[in-house]
Amino acid sequence: MTVVATHSSLGLAARVAELLSDELVLVEEKLFPDGERYLRVPCKLEGDVILVHSTHPPQDERIMELLLAIDAVRGAGAKRVVVVTPYLAYARQDKRFLEGEPISIGVVLQAVQAVGADALVVVDIHKPSSLDEWLRIPHINVLPIKQLAEYFKGRLRDPLILAPDKGALHRARDMARVLDADYDYLEKRRDRVTGEIRVLPKSMSVEGRDVLIVDDIISTGGTLAAAAKSAISAGARGVYAACTHALLVSGALDKVYGAGVREVVATDTVPSPISKVSVAEPIAEALKRLSP
Ligand code: R5P
Repeated sequence: MTVVATHSSLGLAARVAELLSDELVLVEEKLFPDGERYLRVPCKLEGDVILVHSTHPPQDERIMELLLAIDAVRGAGAKRVVVVTPYLAYARQDKRFLEGEPISIGVVLQAVQAVGADALVVVDIHKPSSLDEWLRIPHINVLPIKQLAEYFKGRLRDPLILAPDKGALHRARDMARVLDADYDYLEKRRDRVTGEIRVLPKSMSVEGRDVLIVDDIISTGGTLAAAAKSAISAGARGVYAACTHALLVSGALDKVYGAGVREVVATDTVPSPISKVSVAEPIAEALKRLSP
């Protein structure tokens, strides 16, 4: 098989190709003077081809590149195009929260399928059921929980794995299993007498314990910073954080460290200074499962 990579995730694509003992082909890319994008697969392809392209910021450009790349790979001779998008943008707009809104993830997934993807591998999509809802092609959502958990193995004292909200509890639970630790999620509570709102772990005490907060995305860092402050004010000994996609909008890391987080680590779905854990292995495993 051949792995075709764009510049959006070249390092990760190279690791995946190495793990699968596949040849790596780099797409040529340029921008026309009017701002339109151009790309070209520089050789003939055949059989199954894996296209690795992440859609981290600037998302709109990268989504356009993804669609162009799928068509280019198909046109270069691929019989089957297996698309790997380590970070899939627009996944958080997974329903019409307000009347008149689009379901953005539905638009993106339908476009990927319509343009010619035969299978899709994503990493830790915000709501996994979006894939079943919008795709008819085979798909796998890779969860890098084991890899992130291993980074912290043996480094935390009496750890409690904490999700910033109930929706993210499954990540905390899976990570707790690997680390043989307790897990919980943060919940807003109102003091019935004073009316004061506090954010506290639903049922566990953090007093004197190391807390590892786990989430899918760090964008502005606001969610993580708020969760860290809650854990610290509830008596946590040290607060650490792990996320899959480090989007890190300007100032996010300052906010996170400023809130008292001792260390934050992410995977390499999005290149960043904290992207220290590779998802190449679980992606390669998923690709083996998709092989006919
Ligand atoms: C929200 O639903 C996500 O799971 C993340 O918690 C959120 O996207 C993080 O964003 P920010 O870093 O801007 O708070």
